[in-house]
Amino acid sequence: MAGSQPEEYQVPTGVGLTAVGVAAARAAESRRSDRLFNDPFATDFMTAAGAALPFTDHYPPAIPDNGDLWSWFASYAPIRTRFFDDYCRDACAAGCRQVVIPAAGLDTRAFRLPWPAGVHLFELDTPEVLTFKEKVLAERDATPACQRVAISTDLRQEWPAAVVQAGFHPGEPTAWLAEGLLMYLTQDERDQLLDRIGQLSAPGSRLAMEYTDRATIQLMRDALDDSPYSVFLKTLWHSGGQENPTSWLGRHGWQAQAYSAVERAQSYGRPLPDPTGPVAQVVRAGDGGLIIARRP
Ligand SMILES: C[S@@+](CC[C@H](N)C(=O)[O-])C[C@H]1O[C@@H](n2cnc3c(N)ncnc32)[C@H](O)[C@@H]1O
Repeated sequence: MAGSQPEEYQVPTGVGLTAVGVAAARAAESRRSDRLFNDPFATDFMTAAGAALPFTDHYPPAIPDNGDLWSWFASYAPIRTRFFDDYCRDACAAGCRQVVIPAAGLDTRAFRLPWPAGVHLFELDTPEVLTFKEKVLAERDATPACQRVAISTDLRQEWPAAVVQAGFHPGEPTAWLAEGLLMYLTQDERDQLLDRIGQLSAPGSRLAMEYTDRATIQLMRDALDDSPYSVFLKTLWHSGGQENPTSWLGRHGWQAQAYSAVERAQSYGRPLPDPTGPVAQVVRAGDGGLIIARRP
C-alpha cells in the first residue's frame, strides 16, 4: 500500500499497516460524545500516517453506514476495544500485575487505562510498528500509567526469552491479550504461539483474544469489496482457526468462555447495526469470537 507519507515517519507496511487501521477506528470512537473509551493518541497516529492511512473513506469524523463490511468493522472495533479494556481492568482487580499484549500495534492501553500500582505491561510487535509508535508517543510526551516495556519481535519466532529478559516473571499470574492477531497467523503459528504463552503462564493467568474461524474468514473474503485496501488485506488473512475456540484453548490448558460482540454492544448501550446480505452472514458466523480464558 504505497502512499505519499510525511517524510519523517516510516509508516508501517504489510501487516503492520493494519495497526493504523485499528487506530483509525479508535480515533473515530474517541471523537464521539457517547464514546466507549477515549484514546487520546489515536488521532496522532493517523496524522503521522498521513496518506498511508488505509480506508480513509471509512473513517471520516462521522462514520457513514454504507452497509458494507468496513462499516460493520467501524461499529464493531470500539466494542472489541471496550471489551478488552474491561478484561484488563478485571484481571488487575483480581490481582494480576503482569500484562502482556502480543501484537500490540498502536494500542495505548498502557497510557490510557487507570492501572493499579505495580503493573508491568509488555507490548510485543514488529520493529517497524514499534518504531513508528514510539516516535509518535515521544512527540506527545506520552507518559505510561504503568511500567511499560515495548519488545520488538516476530511472534512466529522464539520470543519468550526476550520477554523474560525484559523483566517478565513466569511464576506470576499474567493477563495476556491477543487482539486482532490470530487471523494473520497460520494454524501452526497459532498453535506455537499458544504453546509459548502457556509456557509463561502461571496458574491464575488469563488470556483474552479475538478468534475468527475458517468459515467466517471465507465469508469475510466474499463480503469484501475490491478496493485496494480490501484486496491487500485478503493477502494477509490466513484461513482461520479450524475448530471451536474453546476446544482449541482447552487442548492447550485453558478454560475459555466465548462472548458475543452483538450482546456486549447491547450491554454498552451501543447496539450494532443489523446488516443484510453477505455482511449479515459474516456477523452470524463470526459472533462469539471474543474469548476470555483462564489457566486453572
Ligand atoms: C490488526 S493489528 C492489531 C493491533 C492491536 N492489537 C490493536 O487491536 O490495535 C495487527 C498487529 O499484529 C502485528 N503482527 C502480525 N503478525 C505479527 C508477527 N508475526 N509478529 C509481530 N507482530 C505481528 C502487526 O504488526 C499489527 O500491529
